Amino acid sequence: LADGPLKGRHIVVTSGPTHEPIDPVRYIANRSSGAQGTALARALAALGADVTFVTGPATVPPPDGVKVVKVQTAREMLAAVQTALPADAAVFAAAVADWRMAEDHGQKIKKDGSGAPPVLSFAENPDILATVSQMKTGRPKLVVGFAAETEKVEAHATAKRQRKGCDWIVANDVSPVTGIMGGDENAVVLITDAGADRWPRMRKSLVANRLAELIAEALAQ
Ligand code: C5P
Repeated sequence: LADGPLKGRHIVVTSGPTHEPIDPVRYIANRSSGAQGTALARALAALGADVTFVTGPATVPPPDGVKVVKVQTAREMLAAVQTALPADAAVFAAAVADWRMAEDHGQKIKKDGSGAPPVLSFAENPDILATVSQMKTGRPKLVVGFAAETEKVEAHATAKRQRKGCDWIVANDVSPVTGIMGGDENAVVLITDAGADRWPRMRKSLVANRLAELIAEALAQ
């Protein structure tokens, strides 16, 4: 482990998309690459943290020097996070699917010959960030969420911070014109109890380094 201001601190980071099975051969996914979560885990480890990296099926490889826990679904991600706790801080950078299929389909869904498409029914997934933020005992000292917004970034992210009960929200504008989702750069607004801090557009690795420094400062207090 690297020496640094986070030496001896355990930090859980979630990253990547989740995959929710429809049946044994199909799944629901999203376009998260895992780039920002991976960069953050790398930056935290570089400052000496003991990082548990809980990742869905991301397209970028996990960083070196962290404990990698691979999951597929939101429910598996929640279970992996709960197993990884306690932690000094938890950062939820994963793009978790909001819904999964309501029923398990053990066999491939087949065309029935009538031409009528199947009706898929959904159930809401657990909110991992909200669950950990609202823990009555053993809550990490610092809980950080992300918010991918396409409009009114600050207002929506500020409301999300309240609703979920986390300490910080890292909000980004993921409208297609920004090229942020899947890209190398990010333009974030950091929402804390002190308000909103709008950062200039920069590489995701730099966003990660800055966030890791701020997390180290917050845990040192
Ligand atoms: O509500 P929304 O999905 O916009 O919230 C995003 C934040 O909440 C991210 O930090 C994401 O990792 C987290 N989240 C979660 N579990 C969910 C949905 C979102 O941890 N089921």
